Amino acid sequence: MFDTIRFLLVSSLLIISPLFSSPTSRDDTLSKGSSLAVKNPEHILVSSNSVFSAGFYPVGENAYCFGIWFSDPSCPHNCTLVWMANRDIPVNGRRSTLSLLKSGNLVLTDAGKTVVWSTDTSSSSCLSLRLLNSGNLVLVTEEGVIMWQSFSSPTDTLLPSQPLTRDTRLVSSRSQSNFSSGFYKLTFDDDNVLRLIYDGPDLSSVIWPDHSLRSWQVGRSEYNSSRIALFDSLGNFTSSDNLTFYSTDYGDRLQRRLTLDFDGNLRMYSRQDWRSSWVVSWQVFSHSCKIHGTCGPNAVCRYIPSIGRTCSCLPGFKMKNLTDWSLGCEPEISASCAETESTFLQLTRTEMYGYDIQFYLNYTLDMCKELCLRRCDCKGFVFKYVFYNDPDYIPYCFPKSQLLNGFREPSFPGDLYVKVPKASEFSNNWPGDDISLNCPAGVLAKLDRKYEINQGNKPIKFLLWFVSAVGVIELFGIVMVWMFMIRTRQSRAAAANQGYVLAGTRFRQFTYAELKKATRNFREVIGRGASGTVYKGKLEDHRIAAIKRLNEANEGEAEFLAEVNIIGKINHMNLIEMWGYCAEGKHRLLVYEYMEHGSLAANLSSKTLDWKKRYEIVVGTAKGLAYLHEECLEWVLHCDVKPQNILLDSNYQPKVSDFGLSTPLNRGELDNPSFSRIRGTRGYMAPEWLHKQPITSKVDVYSFGVVVLEIIMGKNLAVQAKNADYREEAERRKLLEEIRDKKHAGVTDALVEELVDPDMGSDFDIKKVKTLLRVALDCVKQEKDSRPTMSQVVEMLLYQKEDGLKTK
Ligand SMILES: *[C@@H]1O[C@H](CO)[C@@H](O)[C@H](O)[C@H]1NC(C)=O
Ligand SMILES: *[C@@H]1O[C@H](CO)[C@@H](O)[C@H](O)[C@H]1NC(C)=O
Ligand SMILES: *[C@@H]1O[C@H](CO)[C@@H](O)[C@H](O)[C@H]1NC(C)=O
Ligand SMILES: *[C@@H]1O[C@H](CO)[C@@H](O)[C@H](O)[C@H]1NC(C)=O
Ligand SMILES: *[C@@H]1O[C@H](CO)[C@@H](O)[C@H](O)[C@H]1NC(C)=O
Ligand SMILES: *[C@@H]1O[C@H](CO)[C@@H](O)[C@H](O)[C@H]1NC(C)=O
Ligand SMILES: *[C@@H]1O[C@H](CO)[C@@H](O)[C@H](O)[C@H]1NC(C)=O
Repeated sequence: MFDTIRFLLVSSLLIISPLFSSPTSRDDTLSKGSSLAVKNPEHILVSSNSVFSAGFYPVGENAYCFGIWFSDPSCPHNCTLVWMANRDIPVNGRRSTLSLLKSGNLVLTDAGKTVVWSTDTSSSSCLSLRLLNSGNLVLVTEEGVIMWQSFSSPTDTLLPSQPLTRDTRLVSSRSQSNFSSGFYKLTFDDDNVLRLIYDGPDLSSVIWPDHSLRSWQVGRSEYNSSRIALFDSLGNFTSSDNLTFYSTDYGDRLQRRLTLDFDGNLRMYSRQDWRSSWVVSWQVFSHSCKIHGTCGPNAVCRYIPSIGRTCSCLPGFKMKNLTDWSLGCEPEISASCAETESTFLQLTRTEMYGYDIQFYLNYTLDMCKELCLRRCDCKGFVFKYVFYNDPDYIPYCFPKSQLLNGFREPSFPGDLYVKVPKASEFSNNWPGDDISLNCPAGVLAKLDRKYEINQGNKPIKFLLWFVSAVGVIELFGIVMVWMFMIRTRQSRAAAANQGYVLAGTRFRQFTYAELKKATRNFREVIGRGASGTVYKGKLEDHRIAAIKRLNEANEGEAEFLAEVNIIGKINHMNLIEMWGYCAEGKHRLLVYEYMEHGSLAANLSSKTLDWKKRYEIVVGTAKGLAYLHEECLEWVLHCDVKPQNILLDSNYQPKVSDFGLSTPLNRGELDNPSFSRIRGTRGYMAPEWLHKQPITSKVDVYSFGVVVLEIIMGKNLAVQAKNADYREEAERRKLLEEIRDKKHAGVTDALVEELVDPDMGSDFDIKKVKTLLRVALDCVKQEKDSRPTMSQVVEMLLYQKEDGLKTK
């Protein structure tokens, strides 16, 4: 309470102080006949709410642009620019001015000589240049007629209530530090549809919405030619082509902006209060490698958790310009076209989007190779199995005239075959040198779940955070009764707002009373864990839910909300979906989808799983964990993978549960060997925990390995937490050791016969069991670096390969 008071006092002083300290030239208006000079740092227009400033901003050595930026909180460096007059022609740091001439023209002059930019306005009446509270810089007459405004010539950012029209477009910056015009554009196309376009040095293509789909299939309309899009300060975006979305933090925020970032992703950012930094509250692409042009020709983009987005050249190619990935890679040696002198290198799970010469249905790999060898213009091909007719997948061959828009991800169902000269020796260890892209770590770490756009007609539900109001009440020291009354009123108001459904996500806040009713006063217990008890409940909309009541919270409300907000955005078919939460007073509850068949542990002991199901459970669990580790934006470790936490739906598809809470860690924390919050269950825990080594995603890989062994053997290898006995523990480790030793002699039929669950009889596919066993034994290796990653595990399982990383 005292902290809150102190904080509020300090913060109010800080907010007020700039008003006292600089009474001088800080004005929001420039009158006719006067000018702003680059050399005078005082020459800045500040909006009357002091949120925006306009002036000369340094963009390079002795290079300035006239622009508008957010100046609250104040930013001595690296301000967030929202507009620039001369992004492509910076001016000199001496004698450059912005002048409002007597003629009524606003001109930007470089070094006192050249006019680099002007508004081309003229007026004999009294004019002034004014920076409005909305961030709009306007040239306005005495009568209030706007002659010119910065809102009608946006650069890469839209502000609330600033429309994007048929005449305006957003153009990304060249890079994070170079603000000149880049290659990505957001604009209304000739058919009235708002599109994101890559317009690079040599090539251009539509990157959003997916141009393989018709406009109406993605919920867009071509029939409204008014061509206007805008968003409000609450985060409600609407466009005349029927694109609508709500930011994930819909509601009052201090500041919002919609920016076409230099990486080609369109993101909405918001800032909750003046202390916090920008967070992404909506974006077009959650997988930033899918943005075309990221790595240029002949290169492949990958998302690597420890590094971020990376590019690498295809084998046999080298980077064209070492400072610029968008130019891609070129061949090391020029390839001959002769049929007999070329061969192929296979890159698994890799897509090259577009530039198909044609596509060929039901072509085998050999037919596809032959086809590509015969054609000189074929640079390689993507080969994948496409679902045809239940249960058939048939092979498709996509020979490519150019190798562009490459990305590699575990879930892509195909491989790339690159045509290379036969004589040359290429390392099989592709991807070779990964070079990190020029990505702001903070931004990429904050990505959000991808939206389903086409949900226009569903009612809308919003997330509401109303923590801060409580602090204000405390400041005024109003008696408890009063506080209680006000809080109650707020809860009621919040509940009234929750008649809406958040577009694309069904995540919401529940009241305690609602959940009490749903569980009939917490009657039916379906599970108990270290962190809380799980009850079965029926929500008002008749959905059956699993409601987890956390033990008395030792965690602050804000922390809880932050974590829940992260978990609520995670969306994968093999991860349990969280529908919402409740945080009221001491109560902390989480609402999940209900899983009909209970846990894997229960199913293993009741012997209900045949081989097919077991294999699918392993694959699904691996996919869920791989997503959690690698594709999911905030990098989340599970840290407690065990059969009790793998739940089965009505089709026995697995969903991993109990992840996230108090384990969403950022990379910095993970690298810290003193990471102290030990989590996990004895028997499934990797040796790193005991040896105080750095905790990485490989702890989950280890636990997963133990679970797979249990699935094969049909017995519980782990010691139950309660009756943990050191002898038992040692025996279990000996057993693991023995199995591991036997593996040195190879995973033989005999070994399989020996280990496999006797209850299965002979009704299993020995090849698949061998794959499972190989995976399990790789995963439980003592040395964490020799364990595969979860996405390698997925590859090993799907392709039944010895090692997911190696190509060919
Ligand atoms: C400004 O941003 C650049 C590029 O991200 C960074 O290198 C630099 O340290 C930042 N400067 C400050 C003062 O934060
Ligand atoms: C920004 O990029 C443009 C285009 O590549 C280049 O001409 C310009 O020199 C760059 N500016 C800076 C400050 O690096
Ligand atoms: C676009 O939205 C309008 C108003 O909501 C609706 O009448 C129209 O049917 C929509 N068009 C398409 C193509 O979805
Ligand atoms: C969002 O904006 C559109 C267009 O301005 C408006 O019709 C709609 O009612 C708004 N939605 C909400 C929930 O305010
Ligand atoms: C076209 O879009 C605008 C802006 O969203 C809207 O006001 C107008 O009603 C739409 N016209 C039709 C015919 O749907
Ligand atoms: C790479 O690009 C930079 C900037 O665009 C340029 O200055 C440099 O000369 C280029 N290097 C080569 C080897 O082409
Ligand atoms: C694919 O080709 C095989 C043999 O070439 C043939 O038996 C099969 O019917 C074909 N499938 C389809 C869907 O055309």
